[in-house]
Amino acid sequence: MTARADAVDDVIRYYGHVTDNYNAYADGTFGWHYGIWDPGVRSNAEALLTSNRRLIRGARLDEGARALDVGCGVGGFATWLARERGCQVEAITVVPHHVDAARELALERGVAARCRFRVMDMNALVSPPGRFDLVVNQETVMYALDKRDYLARVRRALVPGGRWHAIDMSIRTGSLSGAERRMHELACRSWAMTPLLSPPAAIRLIRGAGFEDVSVEDVTERTLPSARRILEYCDVAERHLSALPEVKLRAVPELAALRRHVAGGRAYSLGLLQGVFRHTCYYARAPG
Ligand SMILES: C[S@@+](CC[C@H](N)C(=O)[O-])C[C@H]1O[C@@H](n2cnc3c(N)ncnc32)[C@H](O)[C@@H]1O
Repeated sequence: MTARADAVDDVIRYYGHVTDNYNAYADGTFGWHYGIWDPGVRSNAEALLTSNRRLIRGARLDEGARALDVGCGVGGFATWLARERGCQVEAITVVPHHVDAARELALERGVAARCRFRVMDMNALVSPPGRFDLVVNQETVMYALDKRDYLARVRRALVPGGRWHAIDMSIRTGSLSGAERRMHELACRSWAMTPLLSPPAAIRLIRGAGFEDVSVEDVTERTLPSARRILEYCDVAERHLSALPEVKLRAVPELAALRRHVAGGRAYSLGLLQGVFRHTCYYARAPG
């Protein structure tokens, strides 16, 4: 297998078996990301939707607009956007049964005619040039194996002046201690992610890909209630997992994936609370 096939296979092995866990976390929103607790946000569901709103901030999306959601989970954001703005939304993931789940969700939410879900690896993103007014990555840039190549693909897919918005997991600037490096490795290994970029490194890449009007917002402090909530969940899940025999944990794919889910959740959430990781929004415009 090639390194790319291995990496994508690992994503499928992980995400393909934690669908119910993510859906339980998402409180009916089907948003598989950290919530953003702006002032006035009272619940996890609201915080998850606040992240969706942050992601489209400043994008002009009327009914004729086209958006692409890269790494769409089971369609929480894509269906929310289609309903909220009435635009056409295409969405991709590498997990085939998530496409089926997303199509069902679109039917339930009455937006099936405005949503199109497909199995596609973002590392091989192909699209007719100039198709989209907005491309978004919500906690998925961290899966692009060659970020320079990925951003070039996104740029080609955008109309002139189209926008690329992302919310991503990132790492603080400066050299890390041994403990911090281990925390980073554990988070990436558990969740099948590539090594995280610091925001300045990401900005250099985005500008290097030819994007203009690049801006960045650090929302780490506003994700901390989600981080604390996830740590509480990890305590409960770890107690449950520690009562099971090792042989069963290895043999049952759902349990092996749950163990990774919890290890990644603990590492990234603790790292956010300790300032090792930074939760970051990026906004950029294609030239033209
Ligand atoms: C943390 S979840 C975020 C899901 C969604 N963006 C959201 O915010 O609810 C990461 C998603 O990225 C998808 N993903 C990971 N690697 C991918 C790849 N190479 N191509 C397409 N999707 C990928 C996973 O299947 C999963 O749905």
